[in-house]
Order: sequence, then structure tokens, then C-alpha cells
Amino acid sequence: MFQFGFFDEPKKEEKKPVLKLIPTSLVKLSHSAVYPKDVQHIPVNIKQGVQLKKRKFSNKESLLQEISDSSLKDAVSDVDVRNDVYEGGFKIWESTIDMCQLLIEKMSNELVGKRVLDLGCGHGFVNITALKLGCEHAVFQDLNADVLKVMTAANLGLNDVLPETTSLVAGDWRSPGLLNMLLNAGVQQSTKFDFIFTCETIYREDCYESLCKVLENCLSRKGFCFVGGKRFYFGVGGSMDSFVKYVKNRNLFNVEVVWSLNEGVSRDIIKLTWKS
Ligand SMILES: C[S@@+](CC[C@H](N)C(=O)[O-])C[C@H]1O[C@@H](n2cnc3c(N)ncnc32)[C@H](O)[C@@H]1O
Repeated sequence: MFQFGFFDEPKKEEKKPVLKLIPTSLVKLSHSAVYPKDVQHIPVNIKQGVQLKKRKFSNKESLLQEISDSSLKDAVSDVDVRNDVYEGGFKIWESTIDMCQLLIEKMSNELVGKRVLDLGCGHGFVNITALKLGCEHAVFQDLNADVLKVMTAANLGLNDVLPETTSLVAGDWRSPGLLNMLLNAGVQQSTKFDFIFTCETIYREDCYESLCKVLENCLSRKGFCFVGGKRFYFGVGGSMDSFVKYVKNRNLFNVEVVWSLNEGVSRDIIKLTWKS
């Protein structure tokens, strides 16, 4: 039978670039990380009459000097976000403030004695607020160990949080070891979370699956998960709508919008609870 030559050619296997995931680690809190010498800070208004302190660097150079991971240092020196290397943890994003306000205004009694997790915590303000409202143990997770060591840890000290009520876990949501590390952080045996918070982490659709898998594996059956984010992330593709659609398709959680801002940079906070 006549065939054009190209039908017979063996197919070349498409090679996907191998993604090097940032390794998972439990960040040990040294005294000097929580109470760095000569640390400067600025107050951040959470709501009227409530401020939290955030560590301030006089310039980018002094921040870069404290970063030990060379690829992170390289990314921080010239961009806001570099996919899979640096995802913006050195900055406070708007939804973090929204979430802190929601906790103070609507959830002050519900957090007492609870175990909470903030995924992609950055500065750590959400968990710091939860601790101030009486939660028992807070696990702070960020992609970059340096964000946790340089920024989150110092913010604990600045805001008079007792380090022993916290655990700091670095690593990628896709890392195989991350779940165990989160579930075992600060407890004798693996324990799921009463509350999970995550702010400004839905800006890329390709992160939805790994983020949802962490939520599904870490939230206790009676727990609540709160996701804060912008309605649209221009230029990067994620949006609150597409995330809600994604979660609904997985058919595991009920989704309820619990807070919205309709003017300026419009944002929402949604609450996820297990379907029975
Ligand atoms: C835009 S920042 C938001 C930081 C903070 N939640 C806020 O609202 O200020 C996104 C955060 O999500 C985390 N993140 C993004 N992708 C991640 C991934 N694949 N694995 C682990 N953490 C990730 C980063 O560590 C980063 O701190």
C-alpha cells in the first residue's frame, strides 16, 4: 500500500520540562529570627483602632542581604512574582487585610482553642490575627523558607505572638511531603485543621488543583476554609469565578460568598464547607 513517508515516521516523544519543586521544610524559629536586632517596622491599619506591625526594610538591598536561597534572591531583585520560584510572599496583598477584618468582625468567638492553617501566608497577618483572637495553634505555610524566616518570624515578635503557638512550614503545594508536614506541625499525631485560610493564592488557574488537594486533605470534617481573592487577576488568568467553578466541579465542598467588595479592585471571600 502506498503511504506518504511521514505516516511511517516514529513519533517523537514530547519532553516536558522537569519542574524542580522547592523542597518542603519545617522552619525552626530561632530567637534572632523572631526578635531580630535593630528591626524596623511600620504599622498597618487593619480596621479602625486595630493595627498590626510589619517588618520594614530600609531598601531592597537590605532585604536581599537576608535571603539565603540564590534563585529567590535573583527573582526578588527584579520581579514581583516568578512562577514556582517566588510567588509574592514579601508583600502584603489586599485580601489579607480583608480576611483579618472578617476574623475580627465576624469570627472572634469561633477561633478560641482552634487549630488553624494559612496557606501562602506571606507576612502571616491572618494567623497572627487568629492567634490574637484565641486560636490555640497556627501553622504558617509559604512557598519560600526565606519569607518565613525573614518576614513572618519577625512579624510574630513584633506583634507579641508566642512562637510556641506557631509552626512555620515551607514548600510547594505539589511537594509530596508537604501534607504530612502540615498535618503533624505542632501536634503529637497527625491532626487536621478547624480553619484554613488562604489569600491571594488563586491568581493562576494552574495552581487550583494543587491548592484544592491541600485543602481537601487538611480540612477537618467540621472545619471551615476561607479563600480571599480578587475577582480578576488581569494578565495571569485566575479569577474568583473560575476558582468557584473549579471547586464546584470537584463536588466536595459547599461554596458560599461571605464577604464582597464591589468597588475599586473588587474582591470576595468565600467559605468552603464539606458536603455531607
Ligand atoms: C500573592 S502571595 C499572597 C501572600 C499573602 N497570602 C497575602 O495575601 O498577602 C501568594 C502566596 O501563595 C504562596 N504560593 C503560591 N503558589 C504556591 C505553591 N505552588 N506552593 C506553595 N505556596 C504557594 C506563595 O508563597 C505566596 O506567599
